[in-house]
Formats: sequence, C-alpha cells, structure tokens
Amino acid sequence: MFKPTNGGYMDLTFHVQTFGCQMNKHDSERVTGMLEGLGALAVDTIEEADVVVFMTCCVREAADVRLMGQVSSMKNIPLRPGSPLGKRMVAIGGCIGQRDGEKLFDELPHVDVVFGTNNLASLPSLLEKAITDHVQSAETLEESLAFPTDLPTTREHSWAAWLPITIGCNNFCTYCIVPYVRGREKSRPIEDVVAEASRYVADGVKEITLLGQNVNSYGRDLYGKPRFADVLQAVADTGVERLRFATSHPKDLTDEVISKFATVENLMPALHLPAQSGSNAILKAMHRVYTVEHYLELIAKLRDACPGIALSTDIIVGFPGETEEDFMDTYRLIEQVGYSQVFTFIYSKREGTPAATYEDNTPREVIQDRFDRLRTVVEQGAYDFNQAQAGRVVSVLFEGTSKKEPGIVTGRSPENTTVHAPLPDGLSVQDVSGSVFDVKIEQARTWYLRGEFCSLG
Ligand code: SAH
Ligand code: SF4
Ligand code: F3S
Repeated sequence: MFKPTNGGYMDLTFHVQTFGCQMNKHDSERVTGMLEGLGALAVDTIEEADVVVFMTCCVREAADVRLMGQVSSMKNIPLRPGSPLGKRMVAIGGCIGQRDGEKLFDELPHVDVVFGTNNLASLPSLLEKAITDHVQSAETLEESLAFPTDLPTTREHSWAAWLPITIGCNNFCTYCIVPYVRGREKSRPIEDVVAEASRYVADGVKEITLLGQNVNSYGRDLYGKPRFADVLQAVADTGVERLRFATSHPKDLTDEVISKFATVENLMPALHLPAQSGSNAILKAMHRVYTVEHYLELIAKLRDACPGIALSTDIIVGFPGETEEDFMDTYRLIEQVGYSQVFTFIYSKREGTPAATYEDNTPREVIQDRFDRLRTVVEQGAYDFNQAQAGRVVSVLFEGTSKKEPGIVTGRSPENTTVHAPLPDGLSVQDVSGSVFDVKIEQARTWYLRGEFCSLG
C-alpha cells in the first residue's frame, strides 16, 4: 500500500480544477507547486489523476451547484490502471471548503479532504492522513496564520505571474460572501512583493498582475504606509514589461494611482473598475460607499491621464429592491462610459450576507429581461471600443495557438483585448508564445481583433 511519508509522492498523479477568481487561480498555482515539490506529477484530466483537488468558489449560487454536480459525478470515473492508491482521493479547497468545512462530508461522502483558504499549506498532511489512515480529514482556519508567501508556485504560463499583495476584504458589500470566506484584509510587506516581482523578472516573466480584492486599500493594516501607489511604482521599477492590477474599489482609487497611468510606461492602459450599479439608491443598499457622480468623476480623471484606457466593470442585475428606474440608471451608465468589457451577473442570494435578509420580490422574468437588455448595450460598447483599434499597430503578448484554428496565434494587446494573427512563415508557436510582437489590426469584432504580424526585420 502507498505510504507518502516513506515513499514521497513520487508515484502519484494529481489534477487541480479551479473555479472562481484570480485569487483562487493563484492559490491553485501554489497547490500545484506544493504537490510537485513533493514529487507528484500534474496531469490534465481527472481520469489520469490519483488525487483531484477542487479549488472552489461560492460567490454565486450557480458555482455551488456546479461543484456538487461535478464532485458527485466523479464517483463514476474509474481509477487509472497502475494507480498506487486503492481509491481516487478527492480534496475540496477554496471558498466552499472554507465556508462549509467538514459539513461537506455529509453531502459528499466520497470526499476525503477538506481545507480552506487560510491553510493551503496543510493540504499534504491532510492528504497523507486520508491516504494512510483511510479517514476523511478536514481543517479550516478562521484566520490565516501568515501570508502564504513562502509556498512554492507553479505558474500556468511561464511568462505571466499573478502576485497577491493583499488577501481578504474589509468592505462587506451587502451581497458578497468574499469577506466571510477570505477573512479580513491583510497586506503583504512591500519588500516581499518587490522581491517576488524581481525574481519573476529575472525568470523571464513578461507580465505581472498585482492581486487583491481591493488593491487600493493596500497598506491600511501596515500603519497606512506604504500605500498602493508606492507598491505599484516599486513593482514597475523592477522593469517588468507589462504591469496590471485587479481589483479596484472605486471608493479607494486615489488621484495618485490614477496619475500612474500617465507616468508609468509599463503600467498597461486597462483598468477593471467594478461599478455594480448605476443607481445611487442601490449603491447605498449595496454598501458600496460611492455615488455614480463620484464614479463618473474617476472615469473622467482616468481618461484625462490616459486617453485610450480600456475600462471594464462588473454589474449586478436584480439586487433586492431594484426598480426599472434603478435598472435604467445602470443601463445609461454603461452607455455613457463605453466600457471595453462588462461582466454582468444576476444577483444571487448568499446565506449569511446582509442582503440575504432584504425583501426581494422582483419576479425572475423581469430580472432576466433586464439582464438580456443589458447584453445589447454591453456588446455595443465592446464593438465600438474595438473598432477604434482597427488600422492601429498594437504590441501583442502571445499566449499560444487559437483553440479553433491551429495556424492562428493568440495573445493580448496592452488594453487586454484578445488579438488573433496568422503565424508568419519561419516562426513556430514556441517562438512567439511568451513574446511581444507588433501586429497591424485589420479586423475588429465585438470580442477580438485580428491582424497580421508587422515586418519582423
Ligand atoms: N473584490 C472584487 C470582486 C469580488 S467578486 C470587487 O470588489 O470588485 C466578483 C464580482 O462578483 C463582483 O464584482 C460582483 O459583481 C459579483 N458578485 C459578488 N457577489 C455576488 C452575488 N451575491 N450575486 C451576484 N453577483 C455577485
Ligand atoms: Fe466583495 Fe465588496 Fe469585498 Fe469586492 S469589495 S470582495 S464585492 S465585499
Ligand atoms: Fe469565488 Fe472565493 Fe474568489 S468566492 S470569487 S473564489 S474569493
């Protein structure tokens, strides 16, 4: 029988399935790094894996339902031939793991391990216990003991890195479960952030994305200094080719940060600034602490600092009490701003959040209709934004071949738009992946641009 304590993880294969936001994606990179560090082999499918780790999300109900379905259906997938285990190990981590803990074993009896967002590092010992003692083992912690800085990371792409600068959230928007499953906000010391960024740059990373539920409040727990603008500048100074950050809460976006879009050359001209609603009454009920007028002022300042900036946002439709008038305010906000991308969500009631107790009697069809109407204005905005790129030469960081057309390579413009281009003669996909090339844009569609490599001489 397999004994991880004696034999290491050498004969084990594992697969990590990730749901939810970048924070989870980054945590998955840490989980992969940890298991690989112990000698296990990452594989692409559940069928090939001895250990399957689900990194879960519970921000909306659909995510819960999907996870339950996927984990249940795993019972029917046979263990791979040659597996050293008598049974495939199933571990649930991420935000559902944190929220439900060992209660998950009641609903999903074939799950072996549950861990949370504050104790990624416990996964190997929990797995060992489950494998050697044949018992279900769960551990979640109320608070993270330390910033998980020291865990190894295996990045999805060698040329791009997520770099968390804060974990947790103190904002308690009334609809949102995140503060309950990610804990209070903690900032990582700037020296650690810069050291990790410098390591990445030395390693050939082209693009760094600073991460946090609200990067703009960075440093409040570190006696207020340094602030986010300082971190941004310090990471830019490492010389990384492309720098991005997410997410920004409009109430904390300072003029100093906005001015960086004018002065910091390697800060990409793109900002995700979730508005959530265009109605002041709804924003108040959401506890967002800003008004539409303030939000629009920020947009004007951003366009002043960086005229071509690509703005994206999140919108919730059907928050309890949203009237047709409130909805039309949101509609008009989207029309007015002209976003390059809008992520729209139907409000989903999350137990334990304040909004779950609010009276909510708008019929489902009315909300669905509002959601559908938003789609038109969202698509128009994306189309118009992309049209303005036609004829331009843009620098594209390539990621690999297009899923649908193997002869076409795909990457991202500085504005974070997807760009497709035919692979020029004499270059292989490996040559272009992870590198930046100029592309002349010839076609602009709603969700992508298409062009040709500029002369490579
Ligand atoms: N910290 C980030 C993102 C948090 S979750 C921020 O503040 O912007 C990502 C998005 O999910 C949110 O911006 C919000 O639009 C959406 N969301 C969160 N809770 C939701 C809920 N209960 N129902 C529907 N959408 C929700
Ligand atoms: Fe949720 Fe609001 Fe925190 Fe974002 S800022 S994670 S929406 S509570
Ligand atoms: Fe989901 Fe957790 Fe992120 S609930 S959105 S994975 S912080």
